[in-house]
Amino acid sequence: MHNNPLPRLDEHPEIRTQLLGFCRLKPGDIWVDPVFGHKVACMDASDARSIAALMGDDRAELAIHDPPYNLVAFETRSLDEYIAWSRRWVNATINATSPDSSLYFWLGADQRDHFQPLPDFMVMMREFPVQARSFITVRNQRGYGTQKNWMAVRQELLYYVRGNPVFNVEAEYTDIPKTLRGYYKDVGGERTENLERGKAETIRAGNVWVDIQQVFYRLEENVSGCYAQKPLKAIDRIIRASSNPGDLVIDFFAHSGTTLLAAEMAGRRCFTADIDPVFCELTIRRLEHYRRTGRTGWQNGHAFDKLLIDASRN
Ligand SMILES: C[S@@+](CC[C@H](N)C(=O)[O-])C[C@H]1O[C@@H](n2cnc3c(N)ncnc32)[C@H](O)[C@@H]1O
Repeated sequence: MHNNPLPRLDEHPEIRTQLLGFCRLKPGDIWVDPVFGHKVACMDASDARSIAALMGDDRAELAIHDPPYNLVAFETRSLDEYIAWSRRWVNATINATSPDSSLYFWLGADQRDHFQPLPDFMVMMREFPVQARSFITVRNQRGYGTQKNWMAVRQELLYYVRGNPVFNVEAEYTDIPKTLRGYYKDVGGERTENLERGKAETIRAGNVWVDIQQVFYRLEENVSGCYAQKPLKAIDRIIRASSNPGDLVIDFFAHSGTTLLAAEMAGRRCFTADIDPVFCELTIRRLEHYRRTGRTGWQNGHAFDKLLIDASRN
């Protein structure tokens, strides 16, 4: 394995500053993909005017947002400020989506601080013209905790809809074989067992996803330097369930560009944004790298590998 990772960029501001020199976008800029019409914007998700400029006349069928959670990584602010800020980007999202659309929001809950901001965010969402549809938990393999508490291994994912959007249930099936027998029911006068009745060989993901591997340095999809990367498999499941080929997907918190890449792989267009030019550049490079090599990330190498070595020689 190529072993030259970038360290976490939030913990190494000096490397982040060095990378700024390689960034195509500065705040306010929008990159338009010449191949498939995706867009990557360097902008603040809570700024209505910037988001309107990104969207133009397009409206998305699906939003997948993974904002900072007001927990450990990224800055933390008062809960009131965090909710006021969330209200602004949710509002921008509503304006950017079509009347029949799905909205997925990843969020965290601080168990040492009354589970903020999750419950507060859920209550805030009641102000918007959306319906709550599901509260999904993704189980991480690794967690954090002590010998005196349950290990924290959950990732929360809220699913809302506007109007009556698509839901492709076949996207929900996992690779996990159905094994549980013994749920008997009479069908047409015959006693049947659940494996005989079911159409699928595997179980549905349901709203607790246990079959998704967390991203870590041994996986091809790893984008070193990032510290909050979501697994492609999770985003792919959302995209296939809640959009159709050719639809537009938005993600205003791009980071490693997972939603853009998953959209490309599933034949959907994606408009994505990040406030940080370095994450915008990583997002664009990850797409270009995939198109060039078929690889979904750099595993334990990184997107600026050769450039940084050259820069340090000069
Ligand atoms: C949790 S990460 C998203 C991870 C992403 N789903 C992935 O798989 O890589 C949050 C991202 O939001 C960006 N961000 C923070 N505040 C923002 C804002 N106001 N507008 C746009 N992006 C913001 C951060 O720079 C960071 O890259």
